[in-house]
Amino acid sequence: MKTIRIELAENSYKVYVGQGIFSKLSQIIFRQKLAANLFIVLDSQVKKLYSDKLKSELEQIGTEVNTITIKATEKNKSVFTLEKIYTALLKKNYSRDTLIISIGGGIVGDIAGLAASTFARGVQYIQIPTTLLAAVDSAVGGKTGINFFDTKNIVGSFYQPKFVIVDTDFFKSLAAEEMRCGLGEILKYAYLTDRVFFNYIRKNIENIFEQKENVLTKVISTAVKYKGDIVSKDEKEKGLRKVLNLGHTFAHAIEVEQEFRLKHGEAVIVGIACSLYLSNKLGLIDDDKLSELLSPLIKFQKLISIRSINFKKIRKIMLRDKKNKQNRIKFVLVKDVGEIIIDVEASEEDINYSLENGIGLFATSAISKI
Ligand SMILES: NC(=O)c1ccc[n+]([C@@H]2O[C@H](COP(=O)([O-])OP(=O)(O)OC[C@H]3O[C@@H](n4cnc5c(N)ncnc54)[C@H](O)[C@@H]3O)[C@@H](O)[C@H]2O)c1
Repeated sequence: MKTIRIELAENSYKVYVGQGIFSKLSQIIFRQKLAANLFIVLDSQVKKLYSDKLKSELEQIGTEVNTITIKATEKNKSVFTLEKIYTALLKKNYSRDTLIISIGGGIVGDIAGLAASTFARGVQYIQIPTTLLAAVDSAVGGKTGINFFDTKNIVGSFYQPKFVIVDTDFFKSLAAEEMRCGLGEILKYAYLTDRVFFNYIRKNIENIFEQKENVLTKVISTAVKYKGDIVSKDEKEKGLRKVLNLGHTFAHAIEVEQEFRLKHGEAVIVGIACSLYLSNKLGLIDDDKLSELLSPLIKFQKLISIRSINFKKIRKIMLRDKKNKQNRIKFVLVKDVGEIIIDVEASEEDINYSLENGIGLFATSAISKI
């Protein structure tokens, strides 16, 4: 098992990564003397697949544990679901001394985190990510949130968990597209970190996909360590933390424009491609480097497909992105592996060029622009 410490003064916590380590849950809760009243926010799919595993570990805790089950869809990442959690908590008389445990992917984790940060003005919570994407990204760093109308994650908070357990055994039941989504976020770290990790990822894409345990643990812990170091320096995303949004300005807009036919991690892969084309158009990388940096993404070419795209709508969605101010769209771009530039503005023409080429890589045929 690997342990990574996220340094945030009195809000510091540990992320445990390993195979079969869900069985340490009760032990860690007792050791940290966390609140005694447990409430589980559980992904419905995980409940179906792992009820015995969950039951046997939760029985170790000994007290009554209540559970709410959530079907993980972006539509359910809503005020309505949040209200259901508050209602269930109140009906069972939970108050300040509550420990919320999120068991599921990024959708369940983001909602559970927001519920924890707001119920009774903030109660303790733990993240147990059961998707690869949640393990390398959403479960660490304390961003919580829900969607409102069609704006993603627009209501939320920064609120850190007490600890995170990444049990890689959960990933065995993930659908191929969910593994691909996790890989999308992992690829992001390949560009953010250094050449050693970039080359390691490039060589091991198949091994990650096939869940070779030592590769998986190494990749997850490296990504978590990198994210943790950034979050320690800039918890509330005033500057440096923005690097973690590489590809995401494009990705969020593409996700919404495609009405979520593309999953978040898949949209991130397309979004990184668009960002690389924009970096090239703005003269940050030359054509040779563009080809080199695009090479890991090309492997996903046949697996992600986009038929048509509405450029005007994409631009409108980007302008609504909470990271943008005063009608200006800001991008995170790449100068080289490990050399990232934040807050770059671009003309409409350059944005369209990047969308056309980036999305073009994943288009089933000549892309139809609406
Ligand atoms: N808070 C953050 O910093 C942050 C970062 C990145 C992404 N996100 C958010 O995370 C969400 C995406 O998360 P996700 O990719 O985990 O998606 P998700 O939560 O929708 O899970 C994907 C699917 O996998 C299923 N599932 C979960 N665990 C499973 C398992 N072990 N076996 C089989 N199926 C399983 C779920 O039921 C769901 O159908 C988005 O809403 C995104 O905005 C948040």
